[in-house]
Amino acid sequence: AETGYDLWLRYQPLDASTVQRVAPKLRYVVADGSRPTIRAALDELDRGLAGLIGSAPAHASAVRGEGGVVLATAGSPLLAGMKLPLAALGREGFLLRTTTIGGAKVTLIAANSDTGLLYGSFRLLKLLQLRAPIDALDVQDAPKLQLRVLDHWDNLDRYVERGYAGQSLWDWQKLPGYKDPRYTDYARANASIGINAVVPNNVNANADILTAPYLQKVKALAEVFRPYGIRIYLTARFSAPIEIGGLKTADPLDPAVRAWWKAKADEIYAVIPDFGGFLVKANSEGQPGPSDYKRSHADGANMLADALAPHGGVVMWRAFVYSEHNDADRHKQANDEFVPLDGKFRDNVLLQVKNGAIDFQPREPFHPLFGAMPKTPLMLEVQITKEYLGFATHLAYLGTMWEEVLESDTFRPRAGSTVAKVLETPVAPKALTGMAGVANIGTDVNWSGSQFDQANWYAYGRLAWDPDAKAEDIARDWARLTWSPDPAVVTPIVAMMLESREAVVNYMTPLGLGHVMATGHHYGPGPWVSDLARPEWNPTYYHRADADGIGFDRTPTGTNALGQYAPQVAKRWGDLKTVPDSLLLWFHHVPWDYRLRSGETLWNSLIAHYDTGIATVEGMQRRWAGLEGKVDARRWAEVRDFLAIQRQEAQWWRDASIAYWQSLSKRPLPAGHLAPP
Ligand code: GCU
Repeated sequence: AETGYDLWLRYQPLDASTVQRVAPKLRYVVADGSRPTIRAALDELDRGLAGLIGSAPAHASAVRGEGGVVLATAGSPLLAGMKLPLAALGREGFLLRTTTIGGAKVTLIAANSDTGLLYGSFRLLKLLQLRAPIDALDVQDAPKLQLRVLDHWDNLDRYVERGYAGQSLWDWQKLPGYKDPRYTDYARANASIGINAVVPNNVNANADILTAPYLQKVKALAEVFRPYGIRIYLTARFSAPIEIGGLKTADPLDPAVRAWWKAKADEIYAVIPDFGGFLVKANSEGQPGPSDYKRSHADGANMLADALAPHGGVVMWRAFVYSEHNDADRHKQANDEFVPLDGKFRDNVLLQVKNGAIDFQPREPFHPLFGAMPKTPLMLEVQITKEYLGFATHLAYLGTMWEEVLESDTFRPRAGSTVAKVLETPVAPKALTGMAGVANIGTDVNWSGSQFDQANWYAYGRLAWDPDAKAEDIARDWARLTWSPDPAVVTPIVAMMLESREAVVNYMTPLGLGHVMATGHHYGPGPWVSDLARPEWNPTYYHRADADGIGFDRTPTGTNALGQYAPQVAKRWGDLKTVPDSLLLWFHHVPWDYRLRSGETLWNSLIAHYDTGIATVEGMQRRWAGLEGKVDARRWAEVRDFLAIQRQEAQWWRDASIAYWQSLSKRPLPAGHLAPP
C-alpha cells in the first residue's frame, strides 16, 4: 500500500497509449557513469524510466540511433558543432533539448556541471510524470539563488526541535559505520527540487558536533550527499572554544579564540573538503554570542568568516535576535541591531532573516530588514515545519504564505523591489544569495508527519530555486506528481491547498493577530496567557486587548516599528484607511466597535473570521470526501482523519479565543454566528 515514502518521485507506470504519446522511442542513455553525480543521474533515470515506461534504459557510450537521452557537460565532444547557450546557465543550470546528434534525434541534457545534468535528469523525469511529450523539448532553467538550504533543528540525541515527523533522520550512533539508505532517498528528494545545502543539526547548537568523532560521522553524511550536489554545513555554537576547546573565553577578538576557530576550520576541511560553512544563532533566546563580550554581531560573524575564507566556506548568521533586556518592541530589535552593521560584514557572510520580524506566525508582514541592508547579502529563512500552524495534523500549504512574503514590495531601493528581488539581486557582482527553510522531516514513513506536509518541503525547494515561482503552479505540480494526474483529483486538491493557509489564519490569528498560541509547544490557543517571565513571550504582549479594544499600535503613536519600513510601506500600513484588514491588528490598536472599511464592526468581523476558518476546513473535508476511491485508500484515510482533527481543533481555537475576547469586550455574539454544535 502507498505510504507516502516515495514523495513526489513515485514514477507510477504510464499506460501504453501515454507512453506512445509522450516518449515512444526512449531506449538508452549516453552518459559517463564513472562520475559520481552522473552515476546518481543514471540511477534516477533507471529507476524513473523503469517505473514509468516499464524498462530501464540501456547505458551507452555513444549515440546509436533514435531514442537516446544524452547527458553532456560543456566541452564534451558530443556537443561539438552545436551552439548552445551554456554560459547563461551558470554552474547549476541545465538545458533540455530535442536535437540531432550523429544524424539521430535525441533528447539532450546539457549543463556546465554534473550537478546541472542531475537537475536536468530530474526535470526530464518530472515532465514524463506529468505526461508531457518529450519529442520537441526546449527547456532552459537555472536557479536564481546560490544557496538553497535545508536547516534541520535536530539535536544529537535525535530529538527534533519543533519537529512533528518522528525522530531525527540522522542516526549518529550508527554513523559513520552505517549509512542508512534513507539518507540517499533524502538526498534524491532534495536534488529533485534543487536543494543544494543541508545543515543537519539544531541552531540551538551542541558543540559536540564539532569534535573529531562527530566530524567522522558528518563526513559519512557528506559522502552520501555529495553526488547529489548537496554540501553539508554545521551550526557552530559560539562558546565551542570554551566547551570543547578548553579556552577560558569565546571573545571573538581574542587571538587564542580566533586561532582556535581557524584550526577547527582547517580540521573540518581536512575531513570534509567541500564543507559549506557555519550557521550561527548567537545572543538569541539564551544562546552564547559576541555580545557576551561586548562585541558586535559583525565581530562574531567575521571571526568565523575569516576562519572559513581560506577554504571557501561561508557563514550564515541569523538575524533572529531579541532580548528580554531590551525594552524595544521585539518587532524592532533585529533592525536596531543589524542595520548599523550594514557594510561591516566580510564577503563570505550572509545574514539569515526570518520572513517576519516576530516568529513564523500564520501571517506576518515581511521583515523590515529586507531592503534595509543594501551592502549585506540577506537570506530569507522560512519555517517548513508548522510550529505555529497546527503541527502535522492541520493541513496548511505554505506555498501561498511564502509567495505573499516574496511578492511584498519593500520599495527599497525602488518600487518593485520585492523581497524576491532583494534576495535575487547580489549586493555586489560576486556576492552570495540564498534562502533557508527549517525542515519538517523526520523518521515517519511519510517523512513530513503528514501527506500534505510533503508539499511544503516541495514548495520550499521550488521557491528557493525560483523565488518568483507561483504557489498555485507548484501546488498543481505537486498534486499531479504525488497523488494522480487525473484532473478530477488535481483540481480539488489544489483548491484545498490554496485555501488552507487562510483557513488557519482565520481560526488562529485573524485580522493581523499573532503569537496567541499556548505556551511552549505553541499548539492550540492561549491568548489569555500573561504570566511568563519574559514579557515578550506573553500573548497579551502581542494582542494588547482590554475592555476598550485590541491590537498592537506600531504606528508613530505607538512603538513606530512601521518607521523601519520604506516610507511608502509605512504610509500604507500606518493609515487606517489603507492598511489591509489582514494586518490591521498587527499595526493598530482599535476599539471593539471600530468600523472596518466594509462597514462591519471589528468585533463582528473578528467572530466572522473564526467562523470562516471552520467553514473552510469543512469545505476541505467535503472536497476530500469526494476523492474516496480516486486515490489510494491508505493515504486517503490518513488525510481524512487528519482533517477531522483539524476541524475539531479549528473549533477549539475559535471557541476558546472568542470566549476570551468576549470576557474583555463584553460584546454579544453577532446573529448568525455558528454556535458550537
Ligand atoms: C522559535 C522556536 C524555537 C527556535 C527559534 C529559532 O522561537 O520556538 O524553538 O529555537 O524560533 O528560530 O531560533
